[in-house]
Amino acid sequence: MDETTKNQNVRLNRRAFLKAMSAGAGVFVLAACGGATPAAAPTAVPAAAATAVGEAPTTAPAAGGKKLEIFSWWTNGGEATGLEEMYKIYKAKNPGVEIINATVAGGAGTNAKTVLKTRLQGGQPPDSWQVHAGKELTAYVDADQMQPLTAFFKEQGFDTIMPKLLLDQITYKNEIWSVPVNVHRSNILWYNIKIFKDNGLTPPKTADEFFTVAEALKGKNVTPLAVGGKDKFETPHLFESVLLATFGADDYPKLFNGGIKWDDPKVAQAAATAKKMLEYANADRSSLGWSDAMQLVLDGKAGMTIMGDWAHGYALSKGVKPNVDYGYVASPGTDGIFLWLSDSFGLAKGAPNPTEAKAWLAVCGSKDGQDAFNPKKGSIPARTDADKSLYDEYLKFSIDQFGTVKLAPSIVHGAAAPEAYMTDYGNALNVFGSDLDTDALVQALQDAEKDIK
Ligand code: GAL
Repeated sequence: MDETTKNQNVRLNRRAFLKAMSAGAGVFVLAACGGATPAAAPTAVPAAAATAVGEAPTTAPAAGGKKLEIFSWWTNGGEATGLEEMYKIYKAKNPGVEIINATVAGGAGTNAKTVLKTRLQGGQPPDSWQVHAGKELTAYVDADQMQPLTAFFKEQGFDTIMPKLLLDQITYKNEIWSVPVNVHRSNILWYNIKIFKDNGLTPPKTADEFFTVAEALKGKNVTPLAVGGKDKFETPHLFESVLLATFGADDYPKLFNGGIKWDDPKVAQAAATAKKMLEYANADRSSLGWSDAMQLVLDGKAGMTIMGDWAHGYALSKGVKPNVDYGYVASPGTDGIFLWLSDSFGLAKGAPNPTEAKAWLAVCGSKDGQDAFNPKKGSIPARTDADKSLYDEYLKFSIDQFGTVKLAPSIVHGAAAPEAYMTDYGNALNVFGSDLDTDALVQALQDAEKDIK
């Protein structure tokens, strides 16, 4: 790397890092601001700091001088608590290793991915980072930033204990690249049970039923639908459920394999439905995150929200109960379809601590690790041998559904299409989230089709 490129990287790293800090990055300690040390390189903090993401570390660094840096966007209730469960297991098995919990806040990783990209381009990879199984990981492989894990999978026996669906998603160019920790469901409508009971409402199964319920809630001065927007994935997230409902389980995947073109009239139909839904949503959505939207439902300030089941993990972290305080149904028109995604962790090419990183990946793929992580995270295990008794009633329902209903891949969370397309799609939907211009949305989605590969 020449001097100019190096300096540019340093500046870029600094900018991305400061942006991340203002976005609420978790446990990072700013490295020296002068000199040529890229600021995005976090200083080690004890693993115990991970229990209170964003707070000052409270214990002394582990003895032994060994380190492990894990990069993710899990800072919210549920996701941070789940991650901490895996750290506990790691620490018990690897007592001399200090974990650097490098988090960058922002749902769906919109901020984290920017910081990660800068670090990778600057040759400063964390040992292991969160990446969605599926098309999302192909960009890192193409850029030669990850190490293959095929032999490691065999060694650990992960290749025989994870479903083929997932193994296929993490296999690219004849190698396995990451270890899935879970399966999440994107298409869930969460609702406030008391509000529904008090108003004699039934959770909506179809778009028509949704609009009837929404109109009734509006009449009672309750915000019908809580939607976030701060993290720039919330409207895109809502729209993938609407697309799925409009096309159905058999046709929706064809939008990503060339079987159906994006000038299909149903895309415009989905845009019109989404517009109508957003007209029933809170106006201040650009200042709210996904968990704020869920909180509005839990507080009885909004009737419903459509979000992945990390919202369940969040609710659990607030001490409320499914089927008591909040209920759940498939998002309107998607009953019997599981819009899936999976979080996984990979191994960086040039990982500073490869041995420690492999020990981390071993925890990620283990039965113990998954059964400790997922009940808190609000997701179901990627392994097929989970101890179902550890999972609550929502998660038991989700495990059953995953095994029985039709599956469809999430766009926003990396399963259906590569990063370049995810960016186009996200931009189009974020503009739509504020101007509700259906024609412009349809045009932008048609323009984006070229990036589906
Ligand atoms: C998703 C991720 C989930 C959850 C969510 C909100 O992309 O797969 O695990 O963290 O973002 O941040």
